[in-house]
Amino acid sequence: MTTGQVTDERAAGREAYAGVLRIYELAKRQEWQVRDLPWGEQPPIPEGRGSPERQARRRDMWRSVLTQQLQADMLACDMSSHLLNIAPDPEAKLYYSTMVQDESRHTEAWLKLIAEAGGTGERDPYLDELAHMTLEADTVEEKVFQMQVFYERLIISRFRMIARASRGTVLEDLCNRLTVDDGIHHRAGMEYEKVLLQDASKKTKQKLVDAANRLLPIFVQHALWRPKERAMIGGAMRSRDQERLREDLELGVRLAESLGLDVSDVQLPV
Ligand SMILES: [Fe+2]
Ligand SMILES: [Fe+2]
Repeated sequence: MTTGQVTDERAAGREAYAGVLRIYELAKRQEWQVRDLPWGEQPPIPEGRGSPERQARRRDMWRSVLTQQLQADMLACDMSSHLLNIAPDPEAKLYYSTMVQDESRHTEAWLKLIAEAGGTGERDPYLDELAHMTLEADTVEEKVFQMQVFYERLIISRFRMIARASRGTVLEDLCNRLTVDDGIHHRAGMEYEKVLLQDASKKTKQKLVDAANRLLPIFVQHALWRPKERAMIGGAMRSRDQERLREDLELGVRLAESLGLDVSDVQLPV
């Protein structure tokens, strides 16, 4: 069965899902392969200058950056396959089948890049905790909101930042691809969440805001956490981190508002 047929057959009475199906088509067109990255043509990560100790420190710093992203994409595999399983709508299931493939491919790319860069570093315990809270959330509305509306929107600016700091490397190429992919994941989440919230009860919407309030303090700890490899630059970056954290939280509130949620109860922890 072609997708065209699926789309046509479901059109009657399913107009609300047109946006989700549109993103499904886009996701299939945008698919790439790990072998498309410039392996062997460009260095995996920026090559440091200066003394051997300084170069080793730089490499450890980059390995820790890669480790956080690998961790995030492994958790995204769990989350997207979970959404594929629990989403009640066939249009959403079609879309999530592409997201599972995307997150698996992202994980494969990080694993290969980390192997070339010298291995993994320390995991962020707060990121594990956040993912656990999202997986265990009560409703599909909460899960889609946390994962796709919030996290996958925020990660885009991180990828842009890493790409800017790693020009001419495989890492830059990967981050540019992930910027596009997570843009699609976020847009799909916005489209689906709009449909879900249209029919959601006031109680469901209130639970979503309550869950966000429980999540935010952990999110703050995650945003300000630094592994030991980046502890020395952590101090210098602390005020910039806090500034960025405030912007992220405000963006989350604006996204919730744009979906028609009542955000007057949201307690920003900064
Ligand atoms: Fe990803
Ligand atoms: Fe994603």
